[in-house]
Amino acid sequence: MKVGIIGGGGRVGSDAAYALQFGGIVKEIALVDMNGDMAAGEALDLRHGASLTANQIFTSSNTYDVIEGADCVVITAGLRRKPDESRLELINRNVDLFKGILDSVQKAKLAPGATIVVVSNPVDILTHLAASMNMVDPGHVLGLGTVLDSTRFRSLLASKFQVNALDVHALMLGEHGDTMVPILSSATVGGVPLRSIPSFKEEELVDVIDQTRKSGAEVIRLKGGAGRAVGVSIKAVVEAIALNSEAVLPVSSPQTGRLGISNISLSLPTKVGRKGVLEVLEPVVDMGERDLLHQSSESLKGVFAKVIA
Ligand code: 2OP
Repeated sequence: MKVGIIGGGGRVGSDAAYALQFGGIVKEIALVDMNGDMAAGEALDLRHGASLTANQIFTSSNTYDVIEGADCVVITAGLRRKPDESRLELINRNVDLFKGILDSVQKAKLAPGATIVVVSNPVDILTHLAASMNMVDPGHVLGLGTVLDSTRFRSLLASKFQVNALDVHALMLGEHGDTMVPILSSATVGGVPLRSIPSFKEEELVDVIDQTRKSGAEVIRLKGGAGRAVGVSIKAVVEAIALNSEAVLPVSSPQTGRLGISNISLSLPTKVGRKGVLEVLEPVVDMGERDLLHQSSESLKGVFAKVIA
C-alpha cells in the first residue's frame, strides 16, 4: 500500500513515517511538505535505515504529484496550537489552509478506493469538512480523533497503577479536545474492571483523566508539539487500513445515529479496514457518559456551523 503524508516534513508527519517504517507493513511512503528540503531530508533519513527495518520506498516533494496512486493520504499539515490555545480556537487559522490541502489532494490522481486520514486540528471539524466534500468513496474519510487520547489515557493509567500499558483497555471518546469523555464504565486491566485492581485509588483516576485532557498542551509547552504518540497512533490506523484488519479504534467519522449522535464527526469505537470506516459500534456507556458525549457533539456542531457559515 502506498501512503502519502501531507506535512511529511513536519514533526507529526515525520514521526508517523518513522512509526510506519518500524511497522514495515506499508510499501511506499510519500512525504509532501511545502518545505521540500525538509521532506527530502526526512525521506533520505528514513531510507538510510531501510537495511535494518523494512524494504520500503520513500519519496518526497513540495508538490502533490508524488502522492499519485496513493491508497491512503494522511493529512498532518497545519498550524500548531499555542500552549494556551484550544484546538477549536485554532480552527480559524487552519480551515483555509486545510481547504487548500483538500483541493490539492482532490486534484491528485489517488488510487481507486483511496482513504483519507485527517490528523490536522481541530481534527473532528476538519474530518467532517473533508467527508462533506465527497472526494473519496463514502466512509473513506476518517480522523485520528481520540485514538491519541485513548493511547495516552491507557499509558498514563498504567504508569499510575503500575500495570502493563498493553493490558489497560480504556477509552476516551467524543471530541479530540476539551470535551473528550473518559469511558470508565468499561475500563479494564487484563479483563479486570479498573476499579477492582488492588492499587486503584479514585483520586488518582481523576488526576490521570486531567493529565490526559491536558497532554497535548503539556507536550507543546515542553517540546513545542507532540509527535511520538501521535505517530504511533497514526500507524495503528494506517496499518488497520493496509491490512484490512477490522481493528476497532476510536477514530473520528461522521456519525449517523449511534448513541443518538448524528450529523457531526467525533470518535466512537469503529471497525477500520481497507475501505476506511467499516462499521461504527455502539459502546455501552452509563447515563453520565452518554450525556457528556452529547455535550461533545453539540459543542462540535456549534463550531462546524460557524466554519461553514
Ligand atoms: C495532541 O493532542 C496534536 O492534537 C494533538 O497532541
